[in-house]
Amino acid sequence: MKNFWEKLPKPFFCLAPMADVTDCAFRQIIVKYGKPDVFFTEFVSADGLYSIGRDKLLIDLKYSENEHPIVAQIFGSNIDNIKTSSAFCRELGFDGIDVNMGCPDKSIEKQAAGAAAMKDLKHAKEVIKAAKEGAPNLPISVKTRIGYNKNEIETWIPALLSEKLAALTIHLRTRKEMSKVPAHWEIMSKIVEMRNKISKDTLIIGNGDILDLNDAKQKIKETGCDGIMLGRAIFGNPWLFSRGRRSGLENSKRPDLKERLRVMLEHTKLFEKMLSKYKNFAIMKKHYKAYVNGFDGAKELRMKLMEAENAQQVEKIINDFLVKIC
Ligand SMILES: Cc1cc2nc3c(=O)[nH]c(=O)nc-3n(C[C@H](O)[C@H](O)[C@H](O)COP(=O)(O)O)c2cc1C
Repeated sequence: MKNFWEKLPKPFFCLAPMADVTDCAFRQIIVKYGKPDVFFTEFVSADGLYSIGRDKLLIDLKYSENEHPIVAQIFGSNIDNIKTSSAFCRELGFDGIDVNMGCPDKSIEKQAAGAAAMKDLKHAKEVIKAAKEGAPNLPISVKTRIGYNKNEIETWIPALLSEKLAALTIHLRTRKEMSKVPAHWEIMSKIVEMRNKISKDTLIIGNGDILDLNDAKQKIKETGCDGIMLGRAIFGNPWLFSRGRRSGLENSKRPDLKERLRVMLEHTKLFEKMLSKYKNFAIMKKHYKAYVNGFDGAKELRMKLMEAENAQQVEKIINDFLVKIC
C-alpha cells in the first residue's frame, strides 16, 4: 500500500516543525485558515518519552484528526529509545516518523542528537534503522542540514539516502551557520542529482528562508526538489498555505487588520483552552509580535499585549484598540 508521501500532490508544501510555535493549538488555527499538505509535530525527545518526565512531553504529540497527514518528529541517539518512541508514535496514529538530525541547540547536541548526528554517519544510519524497526509500516524521514562546520553534502547526503528514506528535508545551511546567512539554495539541484542516483523514491524537500507559496514554487522550478517546507513565514500568517493556491490565487494580501486581530484572539483563546495546563502563556507573545505590525499604532498595541497574562486581557486590549480606530 502506498504511504501518504507517495500520494501527495506535486509540488507539495509542508509546515516546518517549530518548538513552542507550531503546537497543537496553532496547527488548529492553520487547518482552519490554510492547511499545508503535511504537518509535523514539534520535536520530541525519544529519551524523554522513556524518562520520568514523559507526561510533560505527551502534549507535544497531541494532534486532531483534521491535521492528517501529520508526521511525529523525534530526536535522540539512544537506539532502543528511538525504536520504542517510533513504535509509540505509530500507536498514536501518526502518518510518518521524522528524525531530527539538524537542530543546533546545545542541550540537544549534548545528547549526540540533532545536528550532532552529522558527526557520526554510522550511528546516524543506526538511528534511522531503529526508527524503521519501531514502525515497520510507516514512512521514515529525516530533517537535516547540509553539514556541520562546512558543506558536507558529498558524504552526509549519500549516507542518508542509502537508508532509502521516504523523504529527506534539507535546511540549506550548515550547523555552524545557524540561521545567520542566507540558505544555500544554489546547491539543491546537486542534492536532487544525488537522490536520482542513490534512492530515486526518496522525496527531497527544501527548507530555508522561503517567504510564501510563489517563492516555494519558484525554488521547486529552479532546483527540481519535490516539495518545500516553510517555517518562519507562518508567524502571524496562518493564511500562508491558503488562497486557492491550486487555482493560482496565492499570495494575495493577508486579510485586513480587523480580521487579523480577530484570528489572533481566536488563536489566543484556543492556546488557553488546549495548552494553558502545560505551557506558559508567554509563548503567545512571539505570535503577537508577528500578528501586530505594519500599521499605525502597532508598536503601542504590541507593548500592551506583551503585558497581557491571559486571553481575557488580550480581548480587552484588542477591543479598546478597535474602538479607537473605528
Ligand atoms: C522557534 C523555532 C523552533 C524550531 N523548532 C524546530 C523543531 O522542533 N524541529 C526542527 O526540525 N526544526 C525546528 N526549527 C527549524 C525550522 O523547522 C526550519 O528548519 C528553520 O526555521 C528554517 O526554515 P524557515 O526559513 O522557513 O523558517 C525551529 C525554528 C524556529 C525558528
